[in-house]
Amino acid sequence: MAKVRTAILISGGGSNMEALIAASRRPDYPAEIVLVVASNHEAGGIAKAKAAGVPAVSFDHRAYDREGLERAVDAELENAGVELVCLAGWMRLLSPYLIGRWRDRMINIHPSLLPEFKGLHTHRRALEAGKTEHGCTVHFVRQDVDSGPIIAQAKVPVLPGDTEEILAARVLAEEHKLYPYALELVASGRVRVEGEEILRRG
Ligand code: GRF
Repeated sequence: MAKVRTAILISGGGSNMEALIAASRRPDYPAEIVLVVASNHEAGGIAKAKAAGVPAVSFDHRAYDREGLERAVDAELENAGVELVCLAGWMRLLSPYLIGRWRDRMINIHPSLLPEFKGLHTHRRALEAGKTEHGCTVHFVRQDVDSGPIIAQAKVPVLPGDTEEILAARVLAEEHKLYPYALELVASGRVRVEGEEILRRG
């Protein structure tokens, strides 16, 4: 079975990246992580990717305008023969250029039960809203931030006494299971997207 050549785009510590790399090592896993791209040279995930034997490149996003950075990233993706892109804590807004180039072939993880709490500080906002349930979502990327057809979600309870940090850690532990699961669905072809509709088989 040929594995789907997959890249991961990061800006930070890369714990979701690590979870995806670990899953991809399973012989029967349908995706192979062939490249990690970081938006800044300080991203902690770069060293972790290299330690795991995955090629990693980084950019200083401040040296580019938005589309310039995306063209440079896209050239790396093309060079590596990438077929599928996972955003995992990529903290740059994307322009129509990269989103159009990778339409239906780019997925993202977001730490909320979308469509609730798009954007930043999701855990704080869930607490402030008095939610009893929170979680994370993997979705296909569309132009509107944190929108796009939903592939999978995982829920966690919000418990009495939760702080933002405690809740974030509970969600992150679920992210590390959800993202490998969602990538498996997409890379295996069990989930695909047509227009704005998710199609499942098997
Ligand atoms: C995760 O919470 C992810 O959902 C969000 O950014 C965070 C990245 O964490 N988009 P890490 O770099 O994977 O540890």
